Amino acid sequence: MQNTQQFLNEAKERFLSELFDLLRIPSISADSLHAGDVRKTAEFVCESLNKVGLKAQVFETAGHPVVYAEKIVDQNKPTVLVYGHYDVQPVDPIELWETAPFEPQVRDGKIYARGSADDKGQMFMHVKALEALIATGELPCNVKCIIEGEEEIGSVHLESFVEANRELLSADVVFISDTSMITNDTPSITVGLRGLSYLEVTVTGPNRDLHSGVYGGAVANPCNVLCDMIANLKDSEGRITIPGFYDDVAEVSEFERTAASVSHPVIEEYSADLGVQELVCESGYTSFESATIRPTLDVNGIWGGYTGEGAKTVLPSIARAKISMRLVPNQTSKNITEIVKAHLVAMAPKTVSVEVMEHHGGEPSVTPIDSLEYKAASLAMEKTFGKLPVPTRCGGSIPIVAMFKHQLGIQSVLMGFGLDSDNIHSPNEKYGVWNFYKGIETIPWFYHFYTEQKTQEK
Ligand code: BES
Ligand code: MN
Ligand code: MN
Repeated sequence: MQNTQQFLNEAKERFLSELFDLLRIPSISADSLHAGDVRKTAEFVCESLNKVGLKAQVFETAGHPVVYAEKIVDQNKPTVLVYGHYDVQPVDPIELWETAPFEPQVRDGKIYARGSADDKGQMFMHVKALEALIATGELPCNVKCIIEGEEEIGSVHLESFVEANRELLSADVVFISDTSMITNDTPSITVGLRGLSYLEVTVTGPNRDLHSGVYGGAVANPCNVLCDMIANLKDSEGRITIPGFYDDVAEVSEFERTAASVSHPVIEEYSADLGVQELVCESGYTSFESATIRPTLDVNGIWGGYTGEGAKTVLPSIARAKISMRLVPNQTSKNITEIVKAHLVAMAPKTVSVEVMEHHGGEPSVTPIDSLEYKAASLAMEKTFGKLPVPTRCGGSIPIVAMFKHQLGIQSVLMGFGLDSDNIHSPNEKYGVWNFYKGIETIPWFYHFYTEQKTQEK
C-alpha cells in the first residue's frame, strides 16, 4: 500500500485537472437536449477506466448508456463491484449560481460545479484509486465497475441491464461513494437509505379558466381544493394521516436511536446554515430522526392558475402537485404508491376530478454492521482518518442498493466522502478538495482490508 499512497501523492494535481474535464460535460440525464452530453460523459468515463488499466466498455440501454469495466487479477480472489453515476441533476435556478455550473472552480478549498459531489467527484475517486492500485501492482482482488447515467432519473433501465448481465456482474460486494459523512472530523459509513414513492396529482375543476368574480364562490377552485387535500395529509403532530401508511414501518431500536443521537450535527449550526429559525419533526422523534429513520411526505412542486406578472383575476381550471414520500423498512414503494393514490382519489370532493400519475420509486435498505464488508470499510476509514467511523442512516435514496441485493444477492458498502452542506441538487454544488483526496487515499485500504478479511474467512 505504500507505493499506492506515494503514487497518489505525486499525481494529486493531475487528478484534479482530470476531474475538471469530467465536470465540464453537462450530463443532465433529465433533459433530453443533453442526451449527447450524457453519452459523451459515458465515453469519457469509459476511456478513463481503460486508461488506468481496466477493460471498459459502453453498453447501450433503452435510455442513457451504462459503462462497465473490469480487471480480473485472479479467479480465486474476491471481487468488488464499484457502482457510481456519471449523470447529474438539472442546474435551475441558474441565476443563483455564483459561477457557471459546468465551469468548475476551486474557491475556499471547495470544487464548485454541478456533479462535484453528486456523484462525478466521488465516482472519479474510485477511478483514480484504481489507477494507483493497478500502476503499483498493489490491487489485491478483482474489480468490476458499473457506472450509470440514469441515477438522477430513477435508474429506469438499470435493473433490466443487471438482470440480463448477472453473470458478468457477479461479485462479492458492491462498493459505493455517493453519500455524505457527518463532518470531516467525524467519518461515518451509511448503513441505511430511505426508499421513494413519487406521485403527480392533477385536480380538475371547470372545463376552462373562469372569471373569478363571475364564478368565484359558486364553482370549486382546484387550487384551493388541492391545498386542502394536501393540508389534510398530515396532522398537527407531523404524522401522515393516510390509512395504512405506517403499517409496515419497522421501529428502530432504542439502542440504535441512542447510538445515533450522539453523532447528530449541532442543531443551531444546521438551522443557521439553512436560514430557518426552527426545525420541524414528527412527534416522538427528533428532527434528525424524522429525516432519516422515519417516513415523510413532501410536496416538491405545486402550480396552477395565473403565476405571471401582476394580478389576473381567474378561477383556474387545473391545479397540480408533485408529491413524494420517503420510505423506511419495511414499507415498499409499490404498496405506498397504491394506498396514497387511492387515498387522494377518495378524499377529493365531488366538485373536482382527481387524477394521479406515478413517477419512479425505489426501495429502502439497511445494511448490517456486523458484516465482513462493514468491518473492512471501518478499518479503511480508521486508517486514514485516525478514528473509527460512525454507522449512520441517511435520509436520501439510492434505490439500486436494494436492487443489487435483490438481483445479485450482495450487500453494498456506502462509503461516501461528501458533506450534507455540499448543496447537492441545489445551486452552487461543491465538494471539498480535501474530501476528494481523502476518498482517493481511503478507497485502496478498503480493497486491502476486504481482501484480507475475506481470505481469512476461507
Ligand atoms: N447521491 C444521492 C443520494 C443521497 C443524497 C445520498 C443525500 C446521501 C445524501 C442520489 O444521487 C440521489 O439524489 N438520489 C435521489 C433518488 C433518485 C431515485 C432520484 C434522491 O435521494 O432524491
Ligand atoms: Mn448520487
Ligand atoms: Mn443525486
